[in-house]
Amino acid sequence: MKKITLVYFSPTKTTETVLRAITQGLAQNLDISASAIAAVNFTRPEIRDTVIAPFDDNDIVLLGAPVYAGRLPADAADFFKKLTASNTPAVLTVVYGNREYDDALLELKDIASVCGFIPVSGAAFIGEHAFASADIPVAMNRPDENDLRMAADFGNNTGDLLKEINELKKISALKVPGNFPYKDGMGKGAPDFIEVTDACTNCGTCATVCPSSAIDAENGFATITARCILCCACIKACPEQARLMKDGPIKDTARRLNQTCSPPKPPQVFFTTAS
Ligand SMILES: Cc1cc2nc3c(=O)[nH]c(=O)nc-3n(C[C@H](O)[C@H](O)[C@H](O)COP(=O)(O)O)c2cc1C
Repeated sequence: MKKITLVYFSPTKTTETVLRAITQGLAQNLDISASAIAAVNFTRPEIRDTVIAPFDDNDIVLLGAPVYAGRLPADAADFFKKLTASNTPAVLTVVYGNREYDDALLELKDIASVCGFIPVSGAAFIGEHAFASADIPVAMNRPDENDLRMAADFGNNTGDLLKEINELKKISALKVPGNFPYKDGMGKGAPDFIEVTDACTNCGTCATVCPSSAIDAENGFATITARCILCCACIKACPEQARLMKDGPIKDTARRLNQTCSPPKPPQVFFTTAS
């Protein structure tokens, strides 16, 4: 009996949404029931201390993360590297904000292979850019209905492929775009780019969603810039819209992306060939 496990990092939840849609198509195709589907959402820092049991050939694992500066977020890459697998098919997904995914999917494939997974399919989907807002839209409301239909199709097609594969070890290596050496990713820390306004009710939602323990509850829920990874989860999750992006380099980047990355890009999918 096969099990599906989703393993993902997703501060603003677009990666999670895409992975759920892929899972739906895959599980339906392979007749896998909801009770045989598990998720390791390692967005919260404390989850990253958990030791994940090794995966084997009864598992199908979906690995997913957003694209940060054309790479995987460092916290996501570090966690993926700790996984171990043996003869386990992996479905790889990166979600990006309609600029480019550069080397992120290749990086995910390389990490998965070193862990012992056998990548059978890969995809790059589009998610609303974390830096976007109603005033400065970039890929707003993606993944949309069409993206999610394509995600379910990708899962369904991966199911067909898995049924065709006789021996996982003999399949041709999955090919995905990207270059090695990878481009430089994000540096550590962030500029002071978030203002907490008087609308803040001290509810603490921002601290709950922060993947890097970068919200100082003792200091008006200010952002601890040295820890911040710029994910903007705190801005998007605030029920009072009390966290605003200040003028400065991140808002300038959002404006530039709004100008240069507006034509919607389609998702891309890649498959290995069955042996
Ligand atoms: C620090 C940072 C860097 C990003 N870099 C890129 C990038 O290089 N290319 C791109 O298209 N989108 C980029 N994005 C946008 C995210 O990939 C996009 O918002 C994604 O949907 C976030 O995933 P999540 O909702 O699962 O957190 C970046 C976002 C952040 C926060």
